[in-house]
Amino acid sequence: MKLASKHIFVTGGAKGIGEAIVRDAASEGAAVSFIDIDVTAGEKLAAELNNAGQKTLFVKANVASFEELKSAFDQAVSKFGEVTGVVNNAGVNSHADPVTMTDKEWDDFFAIDMKPVWLTAKLALPAMRKAKGGSIVNICSIHGRLTYPGFFPYGAAKSAVLGLTRNLALDEGKFEIRVNAVSPGYILTDLTKNWLKAEAGREDRANSIQPLGRMGQPGEVAKVVTFLLSDKSTYVSGSDWAVDGGLGARSA
Ligand SMILES: NC(=O)c1ccc[n+]([C@@H]2O[C@H](COP(=O)([O-])OP(=O)(O)OC[C@H]3O[C@@H](n4cnc5c(N)ncnc54)[C@H](O)[C@@H]3O)[C@@H](O)[C@H]2O)c1
Repeated sequence: MKLASKHIFVTGGAKGIGEAIVRDAASEGAAVSFIDIDVTAGEKLAAELNNAGQKTLFVKANVASFEELKSAFDQAVSKFGEVTGVVNNAGVNSHADPVTMTDKEWDDFFAIDMKPVWLTAKLALPAMRKAKGGSIVNICSIHGRLTYPGFFPYGAAKSAVLGLTRNLALDEGKFEIRVNAVSPGYILTDLTKNWLKAEAGREDRANSIQPLGRMGQPGEVAKVVTFLLSDKSTYVSGSDWAVDGGLGARSA
C-alpha cells in the first residue's frame, strides 16, 4: 500500500485521467476526496469504491469557483482529516482564435486550466507547512513544452502550470512539501477521443507518430501520479514527468 494513511484531494476526479488517479490512490490505501462538475459520474464512482471497502468522498464543485473549492476542501478535511496530497487534474481543451476569442472566454479558460493550481495550494499549504510534509501533483501536458496548431491558448495555460509548479516547489521546499508536474501525451479519455473524432484521418495520423505505436491509457498516468504522491519519491520536487510514450523526444 503505497499511500496508506494519506489523504489525497483530486480535482476533476469523476472521469478520464482523474478517475484513474482516484482509483489508483484509493487502491493504494489512501482516503481520496475528489471534486467534479459531473455529479452522476462522481457519485457513481464514489459509491462503487466505498462499496468495495475503499475510502472516498465525492463533492460537486467547480474548480473555477474559489467558494465551491473551499467548501469541498473543508468537507474533505472534516471527513478524512488534513489533506496530505493534492492532484490538480481538472482541465478542458481550448481551440480558440486569438482574434475572435473574447476577454471573458480567456478568463473562463484560465480559471479552469491554470488558476486552481494556486487556489488548491492556498487551501492545502497551511496544514502541509505545519505538518512539514505534503505532495502536490499538477497534471500538465506535452503542450506545456511543445504544442500543436489550433490549441490556442491551451499551450500557454499548461506552460503556466509548469511555471507555478517550479515557483511552489522552490518556496515550499523548506517545509518539505514537494511539488511536481505530470505531462501526458495522447491519453485515451473522452477529451482526446472527441478531438480525434472531430476530423477524418486525425486518429490514424495520431497513432502513426506514437513511438510506442499506441496512445496511452489513463491508468498509465495514474501510476506515475501515485508514485509522486507516495513516500517512494521523497527527493523528487520541481520536476515535470512526461507520460507520453516518448512523443516528446520526437522531432517533426
Ligand atoms: N487526455 C489527454 O490526452 C491529455 C493529455 C495531456 C493533458 N491532459 C490533461 O489531463 C487532465 C484530465 O484530462 P482528461 O483527458 O482526463 O479529460 P476528461 O474530459 O476526460 O476529464 C476531465 C474531468 O474534469 C472534470 N472537469 C472539467 N471541468 C471542470 C471544472 N471546471 N471543475 C471541476 N471538474 C471539471 C470533467 O467533468 C471530467 O470529469 C486535464 O488537465 C487535461 O488538460 C490530458
